Amino acid sequence: MDIRTIDWKNGKIKIIDQTRLPRALVYLEIGNLKELWRAIRELKVRGAPALGAAAALGVYLGIKDYPGSSRKGLARCLKKTADYLKTSRPTARNLFGGIERIEQAAARAKDITVPEIKKELFKEALRIIEDDRAACRAIGRYGAALIKNKSRVLTICNAGILATIDYGTALGVIYAAKEKGREVKVFASETRPLLQGARLSTWELYRKGVDVTLIADNTAAKLMADGEIDMVIAGADRIALNGDTANKVGTANLAIAAAYHKVPFYIASPKTTFDLSIKDGSGIRIEMRPEDEVRGIFPGTAAAPRKVKVLNPAFDITPHRLIRGIITDYGIVRPPYRDNIAGVLGKG
Ligand code: MRU
Repeated sequence: MDIRTIDWKNGKIKIIDQTRLPRALVYLEIGNLKELWRAIRELKVRGAPALGAAAALGVYLGIKDYPGSSRKGLARCLKKTADYLKTSRPTARNLFGGIERIEQAAARAKDITVPEIKKELFKEALRIIEDDRAACRAIGRYGAALIKNKSRVLTICNAGILATIDYGTALGVIYAAKEKGREVKVFASETRPLLQGARLSTWELYRKGVDVTLIADNTAAKLMADGEIDMVIAGADRIALNGDTANKVGTANLAIAAAYHKVPFYIASPKTTFDLSIKDGSGIRIEMRPEDEVRGIFPGTAAAPRKVKVLNPAFDITPHRLIRGIITDYGIVRPPYRDNIAGVLGKG
C-alpha cells in the first residue's frame, strides 16, 4: 500500500482528509489559503512533519498568483501569507520551520525575476517534502536497531505515514523493523479526544500488515504492570534544548507509567522538530483546543452534559529525565540531552 499524505497536484495542495478516516479515504485538493488554514486547524492535515510540508506548500500557494513583477510587492505578499499560516496552530515546530525555509529561500533569491523567484520557492517546498521522506527513513534505520524480534511496542497518537509524507517517525521505526524481517506487535493508545491512535494509527498499521491492538488510553499502565510492553515510542511536536518534549497530550502519562514500570520510553523525531531556541519544556506553547472536542466522542456523539466545563490542551510536555533516547535522522540522542542534542544534530 502506498499512501501519501501530501502532494502538489493541478496547482493545488492535495491532502488526505484525516477527519474522514478510518471510514473513508478521501483526498482534498486545496486551492486557497483560507481553506488550507482551516484544514490545518481542523486536523484534516496534522502531525508535525506533515504540517511543515503543508505550510511550505501553503506559502507557495499564497504567492504563486501574485500578479506584479515587483520583487518588493512579492516579498510583502509572502510575508502576509507566512504570518497568516503561522497563526493556524502553535505547537509543532515543523509548521514554523517549513514556512521559515521558504522565507529563507526567498531571501536568497534576490537578483532574479518574480517568475524565477516563484519557481525557486516551489522547488524549496518540494525539497522539504523530499527531506522529510529521507529523514523518516533514517529515523527508521536508527530506531530499528532497538527493536528485537517479537517486541511489543506501545505508541500514542499518530506518528506514522499520516503525520509525515509517506513513512512516519515512531511508526517508521516499526515499519523499518518489519522490513528487516522482525515481528513487532504494536499497541495503539486510542488518544482521546480526537482518537488519532484509534482512527489513524490502527488504520495505517493494519493496512501495512502490522499486528496492531487498540487499547483505551487508561489501559497502558495495566499492560506495563502485566509485563506486556517492551518499549514505548512516541513522536514529537517540539523538542527543547534540554530534551523536554511536547507531544500529544497523554504522552507524559505514558512516560511516567513507563518509568515506574521500568519500560524504556523513546521519542522518534526528525531534526526539524527540535527548537534549540527554547531552553526547556516550560517555554513551549501548548495549543488549547475547542471544548466540544472533549464533550463528544468523535465524530460528535454526546459523552458529557452539553455545558460542562472542559479543559482541552492538545499537547503535554514529557520531562527529558523520563526519555531513554531520542531517535533522530542523525542517530539516537542519549542523555545528557543538553550536551548531546547539539552534538548529534550538529552533524547535519
Ligand atoms: O494534534 P496532532 O494530531 O497534530 O498531534 C500530532 C502528534 O502529537 C504527533 O505525535 C506528532 O506531531 C509527531 S508526528 C510524526
